[in-house]
Amino acid sequence: METMASRFALGAAKEQEINVVLKKAGDANIADLLNCNAIAIGSPEYFGTMAGMIKDFFDRTFEAAQEKTIGLPFVVFVCAGNDGRGAITQIERIAAGYKWKKALEHLRVVGALTKEDMAYVEELGQTLAAGVDFGIF
Ligand SMILES: Cc1cc2nc3c(=O)[nH]c(=O)nc-3n(C[C@H](O)[C@H](O)[C@H](O)COP(=O)(O)O)c2cc1C
Repeated sequence: METMASRFALGAAKEQEINVVLKKAGDANIADLLNCNAIAIGSPEYFGTMAGMIKDFFDRTFEAAQEKTIGLPFVVFVCAGNDGRGAITQIERIAAGYKWKKALEHLRVVGALTKEDMAYVEELGQTLAAGVDFGIF
């Protein structure tokens, strides 16, 4: 997941007008959330759902963010051993609670990350950033 997140951020940083903040969920806080124009959530699938620290980020920010991040464009990228759909579904359900807007198709990588996967995740980051820059989401 760390590799995927780094490549996503690398892609997003190609858009020069966009300031990219890459944080582990445990280090991210409500200020990060209130100050962003889009959010990408990356998580491994653990036990059929998102990693605990991603859930913790949602638990810590939901109340303060309520009604303040409506329409925030978001995308999810997940790595998994054999499935990954549970993590995406659960993150989408929570995102619906925040009333975020799905910006792009979520990415699910099953098994070892290939060069193609890494190129794709980088492109996903750039696409999200370009969309924010051009105001299309
Ligand atoms: C505790 C644990 C639970 C896991 N549960 C699932 C699961 O429910 N579904 C799945 O597809 N993979 C599962 N996996 C495999 C991970 O999703 C996969 O190895 C992923 O690449 C881990 O990313 P990471 O190396 O960044 O932690 C699990 C792995 C661990 C360690």
